[in-house]
Order: sequence, then C-alpha cells, then structure tokens
Amino acid sequence: MGGRSVFLSVIIFVCMGCSSSKKEAYTVKPLADMTEEEQEGKVLFHKHCNSCHPNGTAGLGAPIVTTSVPGFLIQFQIRNGLGTMPAFSEEEISDEEVDKIVDYLKALIK
Ligand code: HEC
Repeated sequence: MGGRSVFLSVIIFVCMGCSSSKKEAYTVKPLADMTEEEQEGKVLFHKHCNSCHPNGTAGLGAPIVTTSVPGFLIQFQIRNGLGTMPAFSEEEISDEEVDKIVDYLKALIK
C-alpha cells in the first residue's frame, strides 16, 4: 500500500511539472450552467469529499480546483486513497458516481 502511494505521488508530481497552465485563480462555473451530471457530481462531492476539500479548495486535503491532476488519476485516487485520504469502495461510491464527481471537478474550473 505504501509503495503504491509513493508511485502515485511520483505520477502526480510528473504531471504537475509538465502542465504549463496551472491556474492560480479560477472561476467557478454557475450551477445553472452545469449539466445534470455535473450537478449530481456536486451533490456527491459534498457528501463524500467536502469535509476535507471544502468547495474543492484546501482543508485537511489538498486543493482540487487548481490541481492539474488528470481525471483518470482522480478516479484512481478515489478508489485507492492517498496519504491521509481514504479509499472509497464501490459500495460507497459507484463507478458512475465517481465519473460524475470527476465531471463536476473538471466543470468547476471553467
Ligand atoms: C478524510 C479526508 C479526505 C476526504 C474525505 C477526501 N480527501 Fe482527497 N485528499 C485528502 C488529503 C489529506 C489529500 C492530500 C494527500 C496527500 O498528499 O497525502 C487529498 C488529495 C486529493 C487530491 C489530489 C490533489 C492534488 O493536487 O494532488 C484529489 C484529486 C482528491 N483528494 C480528491 C478527492 C475526492 C474526489 C474526494 C471524494 C470522493 C476526496 N478527495 C475525499 C483528504 C481527503
């Protein structure tokens, strides 16, 4: 498990290094402009993630809104956890719900 987290951190680090447009300031997309899936993702995010990533910003967890971590790694991270962040099983969050959370997170930064 420890080895896997180190592996993931290395991938994330590499991804951050190669992204040239890391956003410092971001505009939150209005809820009314979000698709139904993105809105459902928002509800799921508030249920499962908001306690540590309040509104996608930093709390106990790292900020997500300004991250350059790609969608597939966010999915991997939800399933496997990272450091203090717990892993979520399919009973807790289904694959479909994970997709919606990722859609929501990607939509936030538009
Ligand atoms: C119990 C607290 C907690 C919960 C709940 C939680 N996280 Fe995290 N999250 C963390 C912590 C702590 C980190 C930093 C991990 C580290 O580097 O050790 C993190 C990091 C992340 C990152 C990486 C950000 C970056 O730039 O490296 C993403 C993406 C993320 N979380 C998404 C989520 C999503 C999506 C959910 C809901 C399904 C969630 N987290 C729920 C604590 C949490």
